Amino acid sequence: MILVTGATGHLGSATLSFLLNKIPASQLVGLVRDESKATDLKGKGITVRVGTYDDTASLGNAMQGIDTVLLIAGTDEENRLRQHSNVVDAD
Ligand SMILES: NC(=O)c1ccc[n+]([C@@H]2O[C@H](COP(=O)([O-])OP(=O)(O)OC[C@H]3O[C@@H](n4cnc5c(N)ncnc54)[C@H](OP(=O)(O)O)[C@@H]3O)[C@@H](O)[C@H]2O)c1
Repeated sequence: MILVTGATGHLGSATLSFLLNKIPASQLVGLVRDESKATDLKGKGITVRVGTYDDTASLGNAMQGIDTVLLIAGTDEENRLRQHSNVVDAD
């Protein structure tokens, strides 16, 4: 199972579209912070999990059963070092 963060953003959604040509949707998970923006992902059969880089508990929940995480860098430059550490440390 592969989880791609930033799944409702440009790079995350493009990455998931690329992966969909390689592996089944059942092996793909998109991390989103606003599920209402994830209609397209769900329509493609991609599992959507809700979480943010600021909420370690949400990241831990989202990563249950995940083998590989692709972290799409956040755009909040002031906080993203800590945010990215939260993703790397999540289990
Ligand atoms: N686009 C490119 O061609 C490109 C090329 C090279 C590098 N990059 C880099 O890749 C990163 C993403 O670029 P992008 O164009 O895809 O930007 P984007 O469209 O703004 O997407 C950013 C994604 O990150 C999510 N996000 C932001 N803060 C978050 C947080 N605290 N917790 C969880 N998710 C969060 C956003 O969620 P929401 O949808 O809820 O806002 C969105 O899905 C940037 O660092 C950019 O510099 C982009």
